[in-house]
This record gives sequence, C-alpha cells and structure tokens, in this order.
Amino acid sequence: MSAVAISPPPPVQAQAAARRSAQILRQLDDLLHDFISKGGPLPWEYALLNRAIRHLGDEVRAGVILQTDLDAYIDDITRRHLPGTMQAEALEAKYGYSGDFQIIDHIYTRHTTAEPHLRHWDLFFHAQAAPVAVRNRKAYFVHLMQEHLAARAGRSLDVLNVASGPCRDLREFFLEQPEAAVTVDCVDMDARAIEHGSRLCLPWLDRITFHHRNILKHTPARRYDLVWSAGLFDYVSDRLFIHLLSALLQVVKPGGEVVVGNFSDHNPSRDYMEIFGRWKLRHRSRETLLALAAKAGADLAQTVVRWEAEGVNYFLHIRR
Ligand SMILES: C[S@@+](CC[C@H](N)C(=O)[O-])C[C@H]1O[C@@H](n2cnc3c(N)ncnc32)[C@H](O)[C@@H]1O
Repeated sequence: MSAVAISPPPPVQAQAAARRSAQILRQLDDLLHDFISKGGPLPWEYALLNRAIRHLGDEVRAGVILQTDLDAYIDDITRRHLPGTMQAEALEAKYGYSGDFQIIDHIYTRHTTAEPHLRHWDLFFHAQAAPVAVRNRKAYFVHLMQEHLAARAGRSLDVLNVASGPCRDLREFFLEQPEAAVTVDCVDMDARAIEHGSRLCLPWLDRITFHHRNILKHTPARRYDLVWSAGLFDYVSDRLFIHLLSALLQVVKPGGEVVVGNFSDHNPSRDYMEIFGRWKLRHRSRETLLALAAKAGADLAQTVVRWEAEGVNYFLHIRR
C-alpha cells in the first residue's frame, strides 16, 4: 500500500485570520447590498459609506483582509450590480489603465450612467475628493494660462501640454479666450486621446498641434514659455519623475515656467479609488516634490508647490 500524503491542517492562527477576513467581506457585502437595493447611496449616507471604505483600507493595510480576496469580491459585485457606472469604468480600464482620457473626461463632465437605478452610484463617485480635485485642476490650468498670457502683454504665449488627454482644460481656456495669442503643442501617447482632444478643440486647431508620442522617449526640440503636465507624474516612479522633469526643464525658455501636477498625500478618497476602482497613484508630499525637483536640476529658490481648493492635487511650479 502506498503512503498517502496528507497536508497538515492550517495553523490555528491562519484559520482565525481567514475567518476574520471572510467576516469583514460578509459585512461589506451586507452594506453594499443594502445600498444596491435602495438604488445607491444618498448624500447624507456618504459619510457612513466613506467611513466603511476607510475602515476596509485599514484592514487591508493591517493584513487582516487579503487584497486578492477583496479585489475578487469588488470585481464580482461591480460586474453583477454596477455595470456602466464610473466605478465599473475605472475597474475596466478600457484604454489600458484607470485614468485614461475617457475616464478623465467623464470626471470633467460629471458623466452618469443612463440607468436611473444606478445614477446615485455615479453621483457618489463624483462627490469624492479626488474627482473634485481633478475638476479643480481644469480651472487651475485655465487660470494659469490666463496669468501667463497677461504677463506676455500682447506677445504670443508658447505652451507645451504634456499628456494632454481629453483636452477639456484647453477647450475651456479657448472658450473663454477664443482670440488668445497662444500656440499649444499637445503630446499624448494615446492616438484616441489625440482624436478626442482634436474634436473638442476643433475651432482652435490653427493654434494647436498634436503630437502622438511617448514623452518619456521624445522631448520636443523647441522651447516654450509654459510647460504644463497634469495626470502623468503621479503614475511614474521617482526615477522617471526626475528623468522627465529634467528633460522638461530643458525645453522651457528663460523666464518661463514648468508646472507639474501630482496627487498629494492628503487624499481622503484614496481608499475608495484603490479598492473600488483599482486606481493606484503615487501620492507625494510637498517635501518629496521639492526634493525630486532639486534632483531634476530645479533651482529651489525659483520653485514652489501650490494646490487646488481640495488640497488633493499639488502643483509644482518651477521658474527658469
Ligand atoms: C490622467 S490623463 C490626464 C490628461 C490631462 N492632462 C488632464 O489633466 O486632463 C493622462 C494622459 O496621459 C497620457 N500619457 C500617459 N503616459 C504618457 C506618456 N509616457 N507620454 C505621453 N502621454 C502619456 C495618457 O494617454 C492620457 O491621455
């Protein structure tokens, strides 16, 4: 008779941990099903749901609940009960990653699903601090452009827009100042983003040139008064951050400015983004941004970190 290998039972501690993890997932499931049955959370219930999400984030960080179990659960409940919502769109990452031009544009336009029974989930999404901050950065860009244009006193403003995405921000600038003396080079590595941006900015294409390029591999040969990039640096490692920023500092004219957006380390919706949308960013502190700027060759006497009203998006301003 051959010996039969019997695997030893998991240690008592591991069994207890698995039970605790399953219990947390059951509680989450009860809570979400309660909201699903009522058609999604209402504004006065946001605090309760947000608290539960942050608590969940703490359990993941403490290793009480396994990220893989949670991911599988979120995928399943989203697919079965929340199709077509912003949450489903972020999880699906149709164009390769959460934060593609279409999701960003849906944030700008507060897109909601056509399904009435799912609308409240999208309103909950758009009320999160992170989407609010993204919408604020559009206004931040428009204001920055206006400031730079005013400082040119009638002379033309040359702008480089790195990772231009949907170009909703540029469109809003031109809607306010259709005759503005600006030329804008937009760089994006996604041809669909460029097509979308060209459509949104159709009336002003005499002053906008699109470049279908990976900015990490090709920096433009000419120089600019303003170099702007939002929604790119918070996806890259510190090494690439320094590499890209030092390349951008080379293409700004003396007296010009490089402005780089990055999610801050004060993002109250980070757990929601990471757990429900699998949307992972490199959140950076002001100190880290300044340290990276110095490594990229910025003069710290000419460098400052600003932010939009939520304090969730930082903007690193570097003068040359
Ligand atoms: C989060 S969106 C931001 C869009 C826009 N700047 C905004 O704030 O509305 C990021 C965009 O960066 C583009 N992108 C990502 N990596 C890039 C790279 N290495 N070179 C050029 N574009 C890139 C993506 O295709 C996408 O359209």
